[in-house]
Amino acid sequence: MATERTLAILKPDCVRKELVGEVLRRIQDAGFQVRAMKMLTMSKTEAEGFYAVHEDKPFFDDLTDFMSSGPCVPVVLEKENAIDDFRSLIGATDPDEAADGTIRSDFADSIEQNIVHGSDSPENGRQEASYFFPEHEIVANT
Ligand code: CMP
Repeated sequence: MATERTLAILKPDCVRKELVGEVLRRIQDAGFQVRAMKMLTMSKTEAEGFYAVHEDKPFFDDLTDFMSSGPCVPVVLEKENAIDDFRSLIGATDPDEAADGTIRSDFADSIEQNIVHGSDSPENGRQEASYFFPEHEIVANT
């Protein structure tokens, strides 16, 4: 099976709670290869651009305020079946519905401040990765 890429974002709550190391450990223990990573603070406009697909949702303004409230860590991850396996590792969007032992179940406070983002399709994974990383910043292997 060919490998896939997903774009993860360790969100501002993950950084504030000093959980970046713990969450990356879990991601790597689950077999994901880190292909690119950086820390940055998104502007409100950048957060609105990243989440443009949600611009009509009632939570859009709060979500983009939160995502631009402090540093986050976008990471390009690669693995066979990366999209689905990553979503299983992090759990449901709402931590109250996330399976026991998932990252959101263990660490997230709310549906909005839910520690980590993961792409929902290979196509979105490619598009979201390019939002943060030009192709030359994504390494082929390690
Ligand atoms: P994420 O995987 O980053 O994709 C979109 C985000 O919107 C999602 O995680 C949540 O943080 C947020 N979100 C989704 N649904 C709601 C909701 N009903 N209320 C508040 N935030 C939400």
